Amino acid sequence: MRNFIIDTDTASDDAVALVMALRQPDIAVKAITVVAGNVPLAPALQNALYTVELCAADAPVYAGCAKPLLRELETAQDVHGQDGLGDIGLPLYGRTPAPGHAADVLRAVIKAHAGDITLVTLGPLTNVALALLREPELARSVSHCYIMGGIGSGHGNVTPTAEFNIWVDPEAAKIVFESGMPMTMVGWDISWKYATFDARQAEEIRRIGTPLAEFVIDIQATLTEFSMTENALAGFDLPDPITMAAAIDPSIVDCREYRVDVTTGDGLERGMTVVDVLGVTKRAPQMRVATRADRAAFVDMLKRSVS
Ligand code: RIB
Ligand code: CA
Repeated sequence: MRNFIIDTDTASDDAVALVMALRQPDIAVKAITVVAGNVPLAPALQNALYTVELCAADAPVYAGCAKPLLRELETAQDVHGQDGLGDIGLPLYGRTPAPGHAADVLRAVIKAHAGDITLVTLGPLTNVALALLREPELARSVSHCYIMGGIGSGHGNVTPTAEFNIWVDPEAAKIVFESGMPMTMVGWDISWKYATFDARQAEEIRRIGTPLAEFVIDIQATLTEFSMTENALAGFDLPDPITMAAAIDPSIVDCREYRVDVTTGDGLERGMTVVDVLGVTKRAPQMRVATRADRAAFVDMLKRSVS
């Protein structure tokens, strides 16, 4: 069994990534820590709790930061729906998280499994940054951290230069990127290139016919509309699930080691992940950046998780 801890701003693609991890037989999800991002903290919590219940799993869910370290919260409810799961009328209320703050739980769980814990981050990095600020030596106890965030190469999704998770809390991202943790960055370029699903491909998954198969597709209702009209995609894309797939099976992505820096300005200088491809800064690479992915292996893993 491999130990995972997942930090998430639980909305429609995060939920699919949670299903993949919770249904993976050789993975023990020791904690799910929730952060504000796609939706405010409260709905993100309910979405994570609902998804754990739907998977008949027992992973504890903890509340974390309700806003970025220094900036006001900017949500993406136009992308994922007001409730974050496509506004399809799911009963996303009345569930109670485990006691304790996510930043404290991250510290406790990482220390309890030092050297044998994979951290997967699916949202803004506020909780993780807070834990690292409180205890910098945590970075040495994390086996590997897989980050859905940034852009390995190409354009952004929230501005031309930035991807949403990094853009929401660039200061937190800078702290994490400079923490010394062994890290892999799966940028939004990997998602739109290898994890976009058109109507036929979505139906192929939904036709598996289980409640989970229908759930992972039906909750993409708002994301589909947004992706096709705003992101010029042929359907919805699944950035968090393809990042989770890389964490479950690292052979699914090809990576290159680069120095990657985060900008903390405003406007177009907000939340950029600057990849030093040619090494011109002469600063030691600290990030494995995914450069391509095996879509077939990803889709097979996704299908297995809902079968
Ligand atoms: O930019 C995509 C990322 O932002 C994904 O994690 C999505 O869930 C949102 O959090
Ligand atoms: Ca997310």
